[in-house]
Amino acid sequence: MSRIKTDIVTDIRLDSDKIIELKNNNEQFLIAKGRRKTYHILTYGCQMNEHDSEKISGMLTSIGYVETEDEKKADLVIFNTCLIRENAELKVFGKLGEVKGLKRKNPNLLVAVCGCMMQREEIREKVQKKFSFVDIIFGTNTIHELPMLIYNVEINKRKSVDIVDNTELIYEDMPKMRKFKHKALVNITYGCNNFCTYCVVPYVRGREKSRDPEDIIQEIKLLAEDGCKEVTLLGQNVNSYGNNLESEFTFAQLLYAVNEIDGIERIRFMTSHPKDLTEDLIKAIKECDKVCNHLHLPVQAGSNDVLKRMNRKYTKEHYLNLVEKLKEAVPDIAVTTDIIVGFPGETEEDFSETIEMVEKVEYDSAFTFLYSVREGTKAALMEDQVPDEVKHERFNRLLDVLYPIVLKKNQDCIGKVFPVLVETAEDDELTGRTEHFKLVHFKGSKDLIGEIVNVKVTDVKTFHMKGEIKKYGDTPLLKG
Ligand code: SAH
Ligand code: SF4
Ligand code: F3S
Repeated sequence: MSRIKTDIVTDIRLDSDKIIELKNNNEQFLIAKGRRKTYHILTYGCQMNEHDSEKISGMLTSIGYVETEDEKKADLVIFNTCLIRENAELKVFGKLGEVKGLKRKNPNLLVAVCGCMMQREEIREKVQKKFSFVDIIFGTNTIHELPMLIYNVEINKRKSVDIVDNTELIYEDMPKMRKFKHKALVNITYGCNNFCTYCVVPYVRGREKSRDPEDIIQEIKLLAEDGCKEVTLLGQNVNSYGNNLESEFTFAQLLYAVNEIDGIERIRFMTSHPKDLTEDLIKAIKECDKVCNHLHLPVQAGSNDVLKRMNRKYTKEHYLNLVEKLKEAVPDIAVTTDIIVGFPGETEEDFSETIEMVEKVEYDSAFTFLYSVREGTKAALMEDQVPDEVKHERFNRLLDVLYPIVLKKNQDCIGKVFPVLVETAEDDELTGRTEHFKLVHFKGSKDLIGEIVNVKVTDVKTFHMKGEIKKYGDTPLLKG
């Protein structure tokens, strides 16, 4: 598959002379201390960042580090940061303050800060000034440089900063240390071109680039061979996948292709932008048996006036029409969403349209956010910022409507049997998810982690369900 705008980089220089020297030093450390150097990553933000942290772990493992759960015991602490809302930023600054104490006790500790916050010059400068103990700063486009940055600090004794604002390059072949064996995150696009007026992502993640379908499929085939059962295809707007590829290849086509891969049993994707949800894609969701019966479709607001000022490029009528078509095509589909309360200029009437939207769609679940002013975005400059107390009051009213709907949706599951992919275990208490993305707790052996078992739902709350394992054939299996 040829491309026009992006180039693939496969040489990530893990075998350059300097990196070999660094690896040798780490082997010497092992001989001298009887243990490997350890790292601890604090990951903030979305699944993009979670997956970037898996790449950071992969890079560190390949130069001889091992992970530790205990930051106090780490030789290297990494902050993978997010700045989507103010509180994400504040959390990082608070935690950096705590790590300052660790660095004082152990001057050999290396501290690195990376991720979306570091893509903003003014925030980098704040970190360098207020937290001058930080040794390494890198960004969302320079993860592959981490070994060189460590080399600079350890061998050249120099603090290191490496940021690239925007890149046309896609780094394939970065080693990854996946958190789970049975489920995996797979990037399909990087960046975002949509410039919703409240959002910093296009500024910190650069322009949208699609990975080559062959690279994606090859990665998923290898995952399947390694025992992975569920993949989540990641992009800020997966529905516009393929836009920069020379030969036409749409997201719907990608779903059909992934659906063919032996061993993969579930396909999820995040995030779908309503403006680009095509009929073809709805058809693909219906026809691909491995695509889960769940769609996360962020609505953000119910008023056309607010949607326009958010630059979302769809109307509430269009959104409702999409949901109708989806439910027609896949009657038991679970629909979840993101909602922002208190966008600049949001009137009481606008807000009541958001409430109406929640009542009409009957979401299975929703992430609800108070609008947060982000410097550099268009919305930050809009007049009529909604006062905090009004935002909070509306937020609470939204939850009062949303939660009973979510609970009712869960109650509809009582007595039914769903296939559940077992994800974690604490003693004999297992936790997994249905195809609908509903969390279920039930008793069972931890050997079942990574297996898909049939679970009968016995009791539900707003945020989780309880159930019991049903042996195959006990109850007719409902496809979740
Ligand atoms: N690309 C995805 C979402 C990425 S950000 C999409 O378009 O749906 C995740 C969510 O954070 C957004 O859907 C939005 O609801 C919320 N968000 C983004 N910027 C925000 C801000 N400034 N204040 C409050 N919530 C925000
Ligand atoms: Fe942000 Fe909008 Fe892009 Fe999502 S689509 S990342 S909300 S600009
Ligand atoms: Fe994700 Fe936060 Fe960056 S939501 S893309 S980690 S700003």
